Amino acid sequence: MRNAYILAIDTSCDDTSAAVTCGTTVLSNVVASQTELHKPYGGVFPTVAKLAHAENIDRTIQVALARAGTSIMKIDAVAVTVGPGLAPALEVGINTAKELALSYKKPLIAVNHIEGHVVSVLAQAQKRTIPVQKRAGFTERFDKVSSPDPVATYPALAVIVSGGHTQFVLVTAVGQYKVLGATLDDAAGECLDKIGRMLNLGYPAGPIIEEFAKQGDRNAVSFPLPLTTTKTYDLSFSGMKTFARNLLERKTAHRPLSKEEIYDFCASAQYGVFKHICYKLEKLLIDQYTASLVHPNSQTEIAIREVWLGGGVAANMTLRKMLRGIVSKHNAWVSKKNLEAAQQISAFRVPYSKKLCADNAAMIGIAAASYFEKSVFSELEKLQRVPQLRIA
Ligand code: KG4
Ligand code: ZN
Repeated sequence: MRNAYILAIDTSCDDTSAAVTCGTTVLSNVVASQTELHKPYGGVFPTVAKLAHAENIDRTIQVALARAGTSIMKIDAVAVTVGPGLAPALEVGINTAKELALSYKKPLIAVNHIEGHVVSVLAQAQKRTIPVQKRAGFTERFDKVSSPDPVATYPALAVIVSGGHTQFVLVTAVGQYKVLGATLDDAAGECLDKIGRMLNLGYPAGPIIEEFAKQGDRNAVSFPLPLTTTKTYDLSFSGMKTFARNLLERKTAHRPLSKEEIYDFCASAQYGVFKHICYKLEKLLIDQYTASLVHPNSQTEIAIREVWLGGGVAANMTLRKMLRGIVSKHNAWVSKKNLEAAQQISAFRVPYSKKLCADNAAMIGIAAASYFEKSVFSELEKLQRVPQLRIA
């Protein structure tokens, strides 16, 4: 059976996105960003987001279909994000998906936005030949984007780090998830954005903090490491935000920070946020491994075989490097204990392009593919937004 062509829509937050996917292959992934509109508010303003989604959605879908070289008639199903997200924003995508499904008699698939971020690492770039300028002997070449190995080993642990969510999700198969830990307050991206706002860096501050951090000393300010005495894998970022605010108030009482001090502060804040995620990840991998030895027949206490990273903050190269470091350290620990090499973590996956880290509809299409295969469709009248939807 051929893979289905899916038109996917995501309007969960401040980006209007439409994509066409086929299995895990991305045929097009169009994002109309609203960042400029929300900049004056220093965050996403829901009613502004709704209006902008309504204005952009039709055109975004048209461009996604055209870039994929297809039309709505040839699409097998329409998939849409139903939550979590901002209620007025979700509504625009859902209403559009319903209209398309009704008008063109297509099945409708409801997708959880977090599941989209989880499976974003499985996305494959379309293998196509790109014509290049005619040179002797060369008329075409393959797309340079390298796709990941499509076959994953389970269970995987998805580390989702975005502006709205930060959680550890155990993936025993696509469609089977268990949240092992999550933030108790702010998300990691939200924390970086708020610290950036204190420094007047602009919105969203995450990517600016990454740039500034390259020129700073991450050990200049020692951010507190939260929840080190708790046994859970939950996370907390609000204390770091308060720490940053108090310190900045003291430091700037008599004079503004110098450029170098801002760079140092960015490097230290970013390091503090990522160190907390790494600390909990390391603990989780070891505990999960140990539990798998104690409960060899358990469905969920199985040694983790792959670590996946998704969400807007996954675009950050320092975070990727630090998480890779934890995976290597874990594997060294396993081999030092003379435990089977087969139980080491065999892959650390990130989406093949940064566009797949931030909110986008291609990840929704990829999640929808497994529902299409199982014929899990939504009834038009019953499909509703669920702003607080959880993945498991
Ligand atoms: O996944 P996303 O686009 O939206 C949500 O679902 O929240 O994530 C947006 C978040 C923002 O907090 C933004 O500052 C952060 O991702 N972000 C980054 C980077 N790029 C985006 N944070 C750190 N470094 C980056 N390079
Ligand atoms: Zn997101």
